[in-house]
Amino acid sequence: MADHEYTAVLAQRWDEVADRYEEYFVPRFRPWVVATVEAIADTELPSGPILVPCCGTFPELPLLAGQFPGREIVGMDISPVMVSHAEQRAVPWPTARAIVQDAAVLDPAWSATCAAVVSVFGLHHLPAPDEAVSDWVRALTPGGRLAVAFWPYEADATDPWGLADLLVARQAVVTERSWEESLAAAVTAAGATIRRDEFVAFEMVHADAAALWEAMSTAAAGALRATALRHGPEFMEQMRKEFLRHAPTGEWRHRRRARLIVADK
Ligand SMILES: C[S@@+](CC[C@H](N)C(=O)[O-])C[C@H]1O[C@@H](n2cnc3c(N)ncnc32)[C@H](O)[C@@H]1O
Repeated sequence: MADHEYTAVLAQRWDEVADRYEEYFVPRFRPWVVATVEAIADTELPSGPILVPCCGTFPELPLLAGQFPGREIVGMDISPVMVSHAEQRAVPWPTARAIVQDAAVLDPAWSATCAAVVSVFGLHHLPAPDEAVSDWVRALTPGGRLAVAFWPYEADATDPWGLADLLVARQAVVTERSWEESLAAAVTAAGATIRRDEFVAFEMVHADAAALWEAMSTAAAGALRATALRHGPEFMEQMRKEFLRHAPTGEWRHRRRARLIVADK
């Protein structure tokens, strides 16, 4: 598959889940969005826009606009439906906008232009996250700050996504995560100094495991949705049963940790 075809397929997958993503995951992911935005608030930013790669429906925007009034804030996403949600969210702020653009390989026009790059839960969806993060560092102007949060691979069956990953792995579907090891080096090699590289954990609540499974397979275009498209409904029904068998009954309350990297150019 040529690069542009691959990109179009991915964009369409995110288009399909955008409404449900906004409804189910945006409220649940909010604490991490707050933590990532706060990570650029304790420094004097240089002039220039704040770029938000993989903005989705742009939940970062109200927090950023509150923190940096009048600043140009640009959300970037590969999915036109996500971007139309983002544009709706941007209406109250004339200096904010959202654009359809690939954040995996940044347009060189962004080089050395941005005061900050803030990205939440997009990096691990990209084909080469370490290369993408290097591009994001290169987009910073001197004195600019990078704050990136992503879900690390969890081989922990008490974590819902960890459990799903283990079930996917059992079907010999390999999740390539070696890039997590080289991420900090990639940020440094691109010319930034790491200020924080740590896990940030918060609680998440779901009505029950069935509701969460449904959201994981229809409200995000991650590993489960890719598995569903590759292996079909019967296969997924088997996985769903396995998931429910291993999950707690009733309301599911769990802590989940993201990795947050903060660096200065
Ligand atoms: C889990 S959502 C995160 C959205 C938002 N930042 C949030 O915290 O809710 C991941 C987003 O990454 C976008 N995405 C995936 N691959 C991308 C790419 N190559 N370039 C730009 N955006 C991409 C998807 O369309 C999706 O909106």
